Amino acid sequence: MSTNTSPATKTLTAKRQITTQGNATPVPSNQPIIITIDGPAGTGKSTVARMLAARLGLDFLDTGAMYRAAAVIMLDNEFEKDQIGELVSEVIGADLHFDWSQDPPTILAWDTPIDHRIRSQEVTDLVSYVATLSELRQHMVRKQRIIFAQHPHLVTEGRDQGSVVFPDAAVKFYLDADPEIRAQRRIDQLGIDPTTMSLEDMCARIVERDRIDSTRNDGPLVCPDDAIRVDTSGLAIEEVVDLMAKHTLARVKDLPEHD
Ligand code: DC
Repeated sequence: MSTNTSPATKTLTAKRQITTQGNATPVPSNQPIIITIDGPAGTGKSTVARMLAARLGLDFLDTGAMYRAAAVIMLDNEFEKDQIGELVSEVIGADLHFDWSQDPPTILAWDTPIDHRIRSQEVTDLVSYVATLSELRQHMVRKQRIIFAQHPHLVTEGRDQGSVVFPDAAVKFYLDADPEIRAQRRIDQLGIDPTTMSLEDMCARIVERDRIDSTRNDGPLVCPDDAIRVDTSGLAIEEVVDLMAKHTLARVKDLPEHD
């Protein structure tokens, strides 16, 4: 494991403890609310989404985990890249769902936890391809809308949450950061030995993933027009969460009351 922790990651990990211990400021529970967070890999999206959800008393959905689970299913079945129909049928049959008693919720396929498998390098290398498949995306979009119907107080993060899945979300965020900073965060997060992968190599991988994510036909990574754009490059994670919580609470005040 690398001991060479960058300033960016030090801030991310040090601040995490402070904020998760902070007081939750729940949004009113008498109205459904969905907050979307989109953006490229390495912007701190998952961490801030989770912390924002905890702070506001909302559930947290990691939609990337669903695409990663589909990649696990593709590997386990040894499907070729052109066996799209077979893959989608298997994913539908697996009935991907989350165990909401865990924090963060863990993902299951065929009622079996697969969380421990979804972050492997093999899965990370395949998932960008899996996420380009329109038929699969349509299934995921349907599932994500069902999840919101069942968990109507939700912070959801991914690439298409504000643009495609929940275009009427109460609050939309788009997180971004310089590719070099995102690459360094990823190296630190995965504990990669700098002699086995340089910052330049990681940066090239990240830029390639961004390219695949933002050029696909269906649900490309875009910043929705009505999203609040946050550049996390020079911000501590707590500052990002503070800013997002402030925007959200201001917006919630303006939402119509429900009985
Ligand atoms: O956020 P992540 O690295 O776990 O996402 C894994 C992959 O899934 C990544 O290639 C982007 C893709 N993805 C997507 O296309 N749409 C989403 N809503 C979430 C993730």
